[in-house]
Amino acid sequence: MWSMWSSAWSSALTVSSAISAATSTPTSVATTAASSSSPCTATRTTAYSPFSYTVETSTRYATPVPSPLVLTTTYAPPFSEASSLLPTGLTYTSYSLNRSLTTLQDGEYGQGAYARLWKPLRYNTTVPFTTTVSPTPLASSELRAPPPLYTACPQSADECLDCYKLPTDFIWGVAGSAFQIEGGLMESGRGPSQLDTFGSLPNKEGYANAVVADMNYYLYKQDLARLAAVGIPYYSFSISWTRIVPFGTPGSPINQPGLDHYEDLINTCIEYGITPIVTISHDDAPLNLTYVDPQFPEAFLYYAQQVMSRFGNVVSHWVTLNEPNINFGIDYYAVPNILMGHAKVYHWYKEELKGTGLITLKFANNLAVPLDSMNPEDTVAALRYQDFILGIIGNPIFLGQQYPSNVLNTPNINLTALTDEELAYINGTADFWAFDPYTAGFATSPPGGIDSCAADMNNTLWPSCVFTTNVQQDGWLNGQASFAYAYIAPQYVRQQLGYVWNVFKPSGVLIAEFGFNPFYEFAETVVAQRYDLQRTLYYQWFLRETLKSIYLDGVNVIGALAWSFLDNDEFTSYYEQYGLQHVNRTNGEFTRSFKRSMFDYVDFFHQFVEG
Ligand SMILES: *[C@@H]1O[C@H](CO)[C@@H](O)[C@H](O)[C@H]1NC(C)=O
Ligand SMILES: *[C@@H]1O[C@H](CO)[C@@H](O)[C@H](O)[C@H]1NC(C)=O
Ligand SMILES: *[C@@H]1O[C@H](CO)[C@@H](O)[C@H](O)[C@H]1NC(C)=O
Ligand SMILES: *[C@@H]1O[C@H](CO)[C@@H](O)[C@H](O)[C@H]1NC(C)=O
Ligand SMILES: *[C@@H]1O[C@H](CO)[C@@H](O)[C@H](O)[C@H]1NC(C)=O
Ligand SMILES: *[C@@H]1O[C@H](CO)[C@@H](O)[C@H](O)[C@H]1NC(C)=O
Ligand SMILES: *[C@@H]1O[C@H](CO)[C@@H](O)[C@H](O)[C@H]1NC(C)=O
Repeated sequence: MWSMWSSAWSSALTVSSAISAATSTPTSVATTAASSSSPCTATRTTAYSPFSYTVETSTRYATPVPSPLVLTTTYAPPFSEASSLLPTGLTYTSYSLNRSLTTLQDGEYGQGAYARLWKPLRYNTTVPFTTTVSPTPLASSELRAPPPLYTACPQSADECLDCYKLPTDFIWGVAGSAFQIEGGLMESGRGPSQLDTFGSLPNKEGYANAVVADMNYYLYKQDLARLAAVGIPYYSFSISWTRIVPFGTPGSPINQPGLDHYEDLINTCIEYGITPIVTISHDDAPLNLTYVDPQFPEAFLYYAQQVMSRFGNVVSHWVTLNEPNINFGIDYYAVPNILMGHAKVYHWYKEELKGTGLITLKFANNLAVPLDSMNPEDTVAALRYQDFILGIIGNPIFLGQQYPSNVLNTPNINLTALTDEELAYINGTADFWAFDPYTAGFATSPPGGIDSCAADMNNTLWPSCVFTTNVQQDGWLNGQASFAYAYIAPQYVRQQLGYVWNVFKPSGVLIAEFGFNPFYEFAETVVAQRYDLQRTLYYQWFLRETLKSIYLDGVNVIGALAWSFLDNDEFTSYYEQYGLQHVNRTNGEFTRSFKRSMFDYVDFFHQFVEG
């Protein structure tokens, strides 16, 4: 693949030099010798020559991934064998939402009970179509690359990192999550999830809802065809918890159409040559099951068993929970439940299912750097920030250690120390580190100091009590601002990776999400949105620093997954665009189109992955 791209590049260079050779009869010449103190030996010549135009149109096309995916091993027994490990007496069924049935008494898990689940949630939109769309091959015009990315390289090998390579098994690709792309919230027996309250009437009326999103629930085949055609080898997606277990509770019915959907999605990945990476729950726990519910660990295990027993044979990488380190708000009572839910699934997968794939969970973390490196209080603030966001989950899972004392000692925090028995059970239940290091900022203590804030539960910064900012001490922003918090700050990528590598000592680090949403991108014309140079620079610079982290800092980075493979519902907003593809939200078909960042992203890996 790389050779095709590189030969296109070199032929473009040949054309330019041919033109200058043909027109190079000088009419006058002046030469300036390089100064003797400079290592540079370039000479300067001015000349008149006949002028002619050259149109620099791109003639490069994307190369698809080889298909189908050839699995050289299986990662767990097939379902025919694994099914014996599931709880006995399971009911496989389906539901069809009819809101006039809320008074129907047809049993604990009947259609009436299902209608009652949805009773608190109403929306003002409906899906535009209700059947799976068959994929069609992409027109070659869609796969033509944008003008080559301008680069001043090569200056020197060091500058251009040409001597650095990523291993052939480097996990690179794109990511998305069920709620944010699927739409069809009430289709085919899905139950309501906590995320569904976003955009629900009447109290959340100010927000966009996810009833439609990107219609990926019916367009997934075409979405995979597009990713394969543009050359993306890994796709990280999440399974919707309530499509599998609509009621959420252990022992409640399993929704057969939900299982069928994800089975086909995974088979379609394999058919197209794309390796699936599966997140079991991306923030979408059932509506009536919060993290503080004592049932949470058992309910999560019950659900996870359904999907791991079905798909465990072909799935090599599992993520249990997305960003649980921030999703409990300030209710720290939830933390042991989260840890136990995750650990139960890990132990079941390894010890009962005897899975040989890899499992982890995925952290949110935008590194906080001390605002003033000379001020010890700012260093205290930065470390405290990391303790609250990473140590709280990372200490027990990666180090077998207690919650950070900074967290445990915060007055009124509803958290008690883990017992030795709990620690022993949780210790080591992640095979690699996965996190979403979008950007970095600065930490400093709040007015009045950390201690007085920590003693005041009413302080808006409680309990972490760290003030964060993107403004440097000298008044400059630390990078190009986005439409939210994801600034372009490549100067901190090595520290982001270095912190988690050196503190939690994992065997490898996966950048599970990273991305950029340019300011007001949605307001641009479609052609302008598709020429998303800021997003491209974000990825190119982030990845170049990642190469340095690997080669200069000794960090074992095992992969990088871009967020997101298309513009989606960023939790109540369709205007926060992180996508490598644009989505037409008005033509009724949700037509996707590649942005230049998709080509440039693929191009980076074609240049740096070995082989
Ligand atoms: C919904 O249930 C009501 C009451 O049983 C029934 O009259 C109606 O036909 C049902 N609607 C659909 C679309 O099935
Ligand atoms: C639904 O409600 C949201 C929020 O009020 C609004 O922005 C949107 O236009 C509404 N959509 C429809 C189809 O009425
Ligand atoms: C489920 O949660 C919703 C919203 O919080 C609530 O209105 C409803 O009563 C709950 N249902 C049950 C069965 O607890
Ligand atoms: C801790 O949180 C739980 C669940 O929200 C609550 O029931 C309990 O009262 C809280 N304890 C304290 C001391 O706040
Ligand atoms: C955690 O696991 C590691 C590796 O197996 C072991 O060395 C360590 O003693 C364990 N710690 C605890 C508290 O169980
Ligand atoms: C927090 O605010 C509530 C009322 O809003 C008040 O009753 C309480 O005393 C305050 N707590 C502290 C520690 O100031
Ligand atoms: C969406 O597609 C329609 C029909 O092709 C077109 O008229 C419209 O300009 C497109 N809008 C966007 C935002 O892509």
